[in-house]
Amino acid sequence: MRDTLVRRMFEDIAFSYDFQNSALSLGIDIWWRKVLVGLLEPTSGLVLDAATGTGEVALAIRRRRPRLTVIGLDFSPAMLAVAAAKSARKHVSGYHLGVADCRDVPLAGASVEAVTMAFGIRNIAERVAVMSEFHRVLKPGGQMHIMEFGLPRNGLAAALYRFYFDRILPPVGNFLSRTDYAYSYLVESVDAFPRDRDFLAQMAEAGFGQCRVTDLTFGVARIFTGRKL
Ligand SMILES: C[S@@+](CC[C@H](N)C(=O)[O-])C[C@H]1O[C@@H](n2cnc3c(N)ncnc32)[C@H](O)[C@@H]1O
Repeated sequence: MRDTLVRRMFEDIAFSYDFQNSALSLGIDIWWRKVLVGLLEPTSGLVLDAATGTGEVALAIRRRRPRLTVIGLDFSPAMLAVAAAKSARKHVSGYHLGVADCRDVPLAGASVEAVTMAFGIRNIAERVAVMSEFHRVLKPGGQMHIMEFGLPRNGLAAALYRFYFDRILPPVGNFLSRTDYAYSYLVESVDAFPRDRDFLAQMAEAGFGQCRVTDLTFGVARIFTGRKL
């Protein structure tokens, strides 16, 4: 899907994005984000949450690591408006939002301790260019953690999930998001996402070392971690 269409899609579904997420993952996404935050090494300083969306990762960081300041960037003003309203409602400080494309991060080189990105990279064709930007803004020694959907590798979990993914998720997700395409696109984009070893190779191409993947819930979600050496 082209970038303008991806942006329009998130503008369209922002109003109930959090509800769609929790309903369709049965709340497991909350635990996934907790694991992601648990991987963060720094306890103070600046963290970039790229494709921050409605702010779920950033707010989890602020809750669990209150000495970390989070900059949340996203190219969808509607998603950011939900994040801003939520953080105002919850009186969250230390979370700064900006409209920006991940391909051109408006931060100085070597300015952040860590980069997080949840469920964003799948939507971007120029993955190496985006991760090179993350590499540029990271301080030496800093880590990038990218969480993305995957498919269980084998066995019963793979068969059951495939059924859910093909038959249940698209119609229910499209209904909840009041679109006729958003969750059909989700399935297509997860299927089209590179295999682990290919994505790990793209991370290395962007300059990262110590690249590894952590499976969550049989591999339904995965966290790819790399370090700027
Ligand atoms: C599936 S949502 C994930 C939001 C949030 N990280 C979460 O965990 O719920 C993907 C987000 O990526 C953003 N996005 C996609 N492509 C982007 C790009 N090139 N630059 C900035 N944001 C982008 C979308 O606007 C959307 O808010």
